[in-house]
Amino acid sequence: MTDVSSQGPAEGDERPELTTRQGHPVYDNQNQRTVGARGPATLENYHFLEKISHFDRERIPERVVHARGFVAFGYFEATGMWGDEPISQFTRAKLFQEPGKRTDLAVRFSTVIGGRDSSEAARDPRGFAVKFYTEDGNWDLVGNNLGVFFIRDAIKFPDVIHSLKPDPVTFRQEPARIFDFMSQTPESMHMLVNLFSPRGIPANYRTQQGFGVNTYKWVNEHGETKLVKYHWIPSVGVSSMTEADAAAVQAADLGHASRDMYEAIERGEYPEWELRVQMMDDHDHPELDFDPLDDTKVWPENEFPPRAVGKMVLNRNVSNFFTENEQISFGTGVLVDGLDFSDDKMLVGRTFSYSDTQRYRVGPNYLQLPVNSPKNAPVATNLRDGQMAYYVDNGGENPHVNYEPSITGGLREARYPTHDEQGPDIVGRLTRKRIPRTNDYTQAGQRYLLMEDWERDDLVANFVDLIGQAARPVQERMLWHFYMVEDDLGRRVGEGLGITLDEIKELPPLQSQTLSEDEVERLRNLG
Ligand code: HEM
Repeated sequence: MTDVSSQGPAEGDERPELTTRQGHPVYDNQNQRTVGARGPATLENYHFLEKISHFDRERIPERVVHARGFVAFGYFEATGMWGDEPISQFTRAKLFQEPGKRTDLAVRFSTVIGGRDSSEAARDPRGFAVKFYTEDGNWDLVGNNLGVFFIRDAIKFPDVIHSLKPDPVTFRQEPARIFDFMSQTPESMHMLVNLFSPRGIPANYRTQQGFGVNTYKWVNEHGETKLVKYHWIPSVGVSSMTEADAAAVQAADLGHASRDMYEAIERGEYPEWELRVQMMDDHDHPELDFDPLDDTKVWPENEFPPRAVGKMVLNRNVSNFFTENEQISFGTGVLVDGLDFSDDKMLVGRTFSYSDTQRYRVGPNYLQLPVNSPKNAPVATNLRDGQMAYYVDNGGENPHVNYEPSITGGLREARYPTHDEQGPDIVGRLTRKRIPRTNDYTQAGQRYLLMEDWERDDLVANFVDLIGQAARPVQERMLWHFYMVEDDLGRRVGEGLGITLDEIKELPPLQSQTLSEDEVERLRNLG
């Protein structure tokens, strides 16, 4: 009998055979190759070295934000209508046109601030990113569950995220740092009133709304454009947790939301959302007291009713977490014909950031990975090589011609579907300015008044607890903002913090704000 260390497969075991990535059979996966049974080890130990060195590289950088998330697959089914009107009047995007038409999609739900293994019951906005694999290529709608955001200019994104991420010394999330930044960032008030209410901790991923948040455009056959905002409405309704509910959930399970969604899909209870769209004419709407391109604002639903355009159903779980969740890559630049960008200053910044980080995080050929490639549309490019180039996407044409134009073969440009011009004329001088209509408080106050009593109680308690941990000047400024938002909010948080209105009437000017006339008037009448 041959002297082998591993016993090898049992008689009749017909499972596939283990190999190296070179296709060599692995005879022994239990013992390294050594000189004698007790060592030393040899350096030509190919299988062992490959196995360990690949393991050493198993992790790619986690996402800088939205590191913890969970993916599911399904489809979008169009109604062909925007409410009661044929959708073709407003957009020529093919996925929306025919009633009943289905488009494959992937969704990734996430939290923002924590790392890849952090708690899913954290108070945090939830990411709601959808990748539609359309026949015209991919469309990504990368949104959140709260409908607004902390800031309106992309240049502030690293700062707002640094303030929310752990302290660089203690590595703890510190309310003192968060409210230091927010107290100088009045446009964050609307987001804060949402985030520190129960809506800041959705009960799970199936019971949350989603919003595109940024303003986009729709374009029809004639090149006519509309401004639009997207809303996802869950068929099972919305439910949220208080701080106390969340503490109990996360004491037992840090990943309750992923588990809930995974198990619901396995049971055949497929989560569903209706997609609704708000619409405005494509101009700056001077009649409104906010700017329609400002992502710290919602569009009032009585004036701009959200109308249904279809539904999303999630009916398949990932088959592998790494290839389908860690490597999936969404971006706001990923639009198809009939959908377009607005001039929203956050949107342009985001559009650069996503593919930039994915070239770093996943690699320059991330779009060749199955979960990212536009599986329902042909791909033919002259992009070549780079780390991990997996195939040559030359569309099967002359492989010698990897440039364009050429008279010897290769690829040609596509024909414009209709025209190459659309939208209003824009004239302006180069400048660095905040938008004129900031109006940072009105909608935050309206949101506060719309809440139910228990939600307001939870919001006030959370603010008092967390802002109470900040320095006194930060507490005073936050209170000043809350009075500007709504007297009742200022009064209640002030009582909790032990600061009176008189103490905050004469604070030094903010670093980042000039007040509008309405706001000055409000300031005069505080309390
Ligand atoms: C993820 C940047 C604002 C929603 C990310 C990532 C970056 C980023 C770098 C990681 C992407 C990756 O590694 O694949 C930015 C910048 C913003 C911004 C620069 C502002 C200028 C927003 C806003 C929303 C949002 C306003 C919500 C409307 C998301 C979502 C993800 C994400 C959902 C996770 C995507 C996924 O699941 O893979 N963002 N973001 N971001 N962001 Fe933003």
